Amino acid sequence: MHPRVAVLASGRGSNLAALLAARDRGELPVDFVLVGSDKATAGALQLAATAGIPTLALDPRNYPDRRTFDLELFARIAASGAELLVLAGYMRIIDGEALRPWVGRMINIHPSLLPKYRGLHTHRRALEAGDLEHGASVHFVTAELDGGPVIAQARMAIEAGDDEHRLAQRLLPLEHRLLPAVLRLLASQQLQWVGDGPRLDGQPLLTALQLGAHGLLPAE
Ligand code: GRF
Repeated sequence: MHPRVAVLASGRGSNLAALLAARDRGELPVDFVLVGSDKATAGALQLAATAGIPTLALDPRNYPDRRTFDLELFARIAASGAELLVLAGYMRIIDGEALRPWVGRMINIHPSLLPKYRGLHTHRRALEAGDLEHGASVHFVTAELDGGPVIAQARMAIEAGDDEHRLAQRLLPLEHRLLPAVLRLLASQQLQWVGDGPRLDGQPLLTALQLGAHGLLPAE
């Protein structure tokens, strides 16, 4: 049996689509058991429903505070039988107590070369800083926003004609290769959380893996 995976997404769901496509190509042996969202209108929910994956939409406005919402959401995720959790464009900060049981089993994709530009508007901030390169990171989720150990990154050069929109658009195809590649490592247990940090093939992962031009990680 394949590892059971839940996905949380707040938006259109192109990263979810990339995960499903990788699975369909036989490159990502996992079972998607739930796609959840804080937005009932998220494109990701529609994609999941079309793919026959159970969906869950919870509206934070129906809960008195963040912790109550997150405890309910994470209880529902646990009830789905998920062993791993992927944040694929999930745009909410998660309460530290709710996420604690998932540390080491939950990854997030963030559109910057972490530790640069945690939080929002990463493309704009990279341009404003005059950076020569930009990229995306997949990291383990800890209570520190966008601050958990980085597993892997995809890099690209910033070009003269880039504005915020173009940069985001050019980065997206790299995100779509990076996220399935990292989930594959986690699902195969080549990548594991041991004690208080990530290990790859049993060795502490001290520097982030870099996605190669061929769209693969060096560990694959
Ligand atoms: C991606 O750029 C992701 O890195 C960011 O939000 C965007 C989600 O896009 N956190 P999509 O919903 O997967 O298309």
